[in-house]
Amino acid sequence: PAPLTLLGLESSCDDTGAAVVRTRADGGGEILSNVVISQDDLHAAFGGVVPEIAARAHAEKIDIAVEQALSRAGLRLDQIDAVAVTAGPGLIGGVLSGVMCARGLAAGAGLPLVGVNHLAGHALTPRLTDGLAFPYLMLLVSGGHCQFLIAHGPDRFTRLGGTIDDAPGEAFDKTARLLGLPQPGGPAVEGAARDGDARRFAFPRPLLNRPGCDMSFSGLKTAVLRARDQLLAAQDGLYPQDVNDLSAGFQAAVADVLTEKTRRALAAYLDLQPPAPTIAVAGGVAANDALRSRLSALAAEHGISFVAPPLALCTDNAAMIAWAGLERLRAGLTDDAAVIARPRWPL
Ligand code: KG4
Ligand code: ZN
Repeated sequence: PAPLTLLGLESSCDDTGAAVVRTRADGGGEILSNVVISQDDLHAAFGGVVPEIAARAHAEKIDIAVEQALSRAGLRLDQIDAVAVTAGPGLIGGVLSGVMCARGLAAGAGLPLVGVNHLAGHALTPRLTDGLAFPYLMLLVSGGHCQFLIAHGPDRFTRLGGTIDDAPGEAFDKTARLLGLPQPGGPAVEGAARDGDARRFAFPRPLLNRPGCDMSFSGLKTAVLRARDQLLAAQDGLYPQDVNDLSAGFQAAVADVLTEKTRRALAAYLDLQPPAPTIAVAGGVAANDALRSRLSALAAEHGISFVAPPLALCTDNAAMIAWAGLERLRAGLTDDAAVIARPRWPL
């Protein structure tokens, strides 16, 4: 088949992205450009993403992101086969900016428009980067989401379980705030944890003894708060070593829970007797090295492959949206002008 080239747009959270991706002969994808305009600076002072600020920044930046993506790819819009856009789930203002922009581009150039579920974008990333074959086990772990999926096809996922409250990325971000570390909290906490002693604080491993793949992370953040306040009551402030040890203890608890629950999800997945069994991760928290090495050890223990996309493709980006759109298009799953913004949209 002739190669397909898609323009993808992503604006569901706090990154404005546009990317151009083309099919490769071996089935994977080639990223011709992947522009991410971060809003971190705008939200930093508020300690979290402010939806109104995010919406306005997406509206201001999305056209610029598209222009950059096309020019870096060295292509004009009329050399693109279709436009893919995140249609949800996410913050409605941002999703709308993307959908409106994509509709305009597609209508103006007479191109098909493909609505993509942001979670499917994350979950299909290992096929873009590694040409992974279905079915594979996916741990999707980000700032807003945490779930185990068996990916059977571009539009077919079985959910095995997930968080019943906070997502781990959110817990990393809250922990960073409690410890006076910068946002986004994940990389900051991971950095501090590198010099910390994970055994100094005994943090809980919520739901670990409960059967199934469901998880909980909100109690963990409360435990960090309590440990911090105990320190503050006993001394004149938090010392760097305290911050490092609290970070290490917190991160170890998250990694323990995610690894043990992955072990359980693996059992359900292996029951399907997949021809090339693989555990894959995606989402911002999949950038965490401590977690990656635990999961890769678990996979090795079972003699199966472990795939973790490069960091820039784990966090929010438009290449994964272009790719997911491309997979939908190849499978004949187009939605044309009916693409509407859906703030809530389970896979
Ligand atoms: O996938 P993502 O970019 O956005 C969505 O939530 O969809 O994920 C962002 C989250 C943030 O909470 C951030 O703190 C977390 O991923 N994160 C990390 C690391 N890098 C980013 N968490 C732990 N360790 C990291 N190295
Ligand atoms: Zn995401």
